[in-house]
Amino acid sequence: MSKIIVALDGFSSCGKSTTAKRVAATLHYAFIDTGAMYRAVALYFHRHAVEVSDAEAVEYALKHIEITFAFNVGRQASDTILNGENVEQEIRKMFISEIVSQVAAIPAVRHAMVAQQQKMGEKKGIVMDGRDIGTVVFPQAELKIFMTAQPNIRAQRRKLELLQKGEDLPLEEIVENLRMRDEIDSNRTEGPLKRADDAIDLDTSFRSMDEQVNFVLDHVRRVQ
Ligand code: C5P
Repeated sequence: MSKIIVALDGFSSCGKSTTAKRVAATLHYAFIDTGAMYRAVALYFHRHAVEVSDAEAVEYALKHIEITFAFNVGRQASDTILNGENVEQEIRKMFISEIVSQVAAIPAVRHAMVAQQQKMGEKKGIVMDGRDIGTVVFPQAELKIFMTAQPNIRAQRRKLELLQKGEDLPLEEIVENLRMRDEIDSNRTEGPLKRADDAIDLDTSFRSMDEQVNFVLDHVRRVQ
């Protein structure tokens, strides 16, 4: 069977990464969480006090950022590596969620990340999740899925996820963060969060993870 590109786009906390990870494992494909890449850039900017409005500092910083992924046997998933340091835990924290959308809206940041993502998918056989995969990174992807879920369900899922990682935050703070990120992600000029015209919709509000994974796998079989 021929290898394809599977693009999974959608709002935060719809289950994109977990679904993508499982689909990739079943197909023996690579999996790339592009949100992790933007989170790693945001962490670097935070640590080096790079102002999003300072174009020169942004350009300079981008030349000094290398993001790779390393398979973590214990987690059975990839860890995000920023300039040789494993930052997987750090980038999932709320302080990064608070700043990542502003960083991801900078055109120079998007150009650098998109170029890397396109290189990663050159040979196909990849499942990539993000916001602009089906529209900008791989507009020619054989399969595009656009994932949504009701806002209250997304916030509950995110709360649980953060709790499992040791951060116990009020639900209102999480709701507000998701709302703020949706707004910035959807309204930026470069690579906004947008459903591709040829994407297939997947509302995950009332689906189990198995159902979501099988939904995507069924569509993979149809286009392969
Ligand atoms: O997927 P996740 O919620 O971890 O993504 C974090 C942030 O990274 C998003 O809110 C968005 O601002 C940015 N992002 C993006 N384009 C992508 C993936 C993520 O702008 N392809």
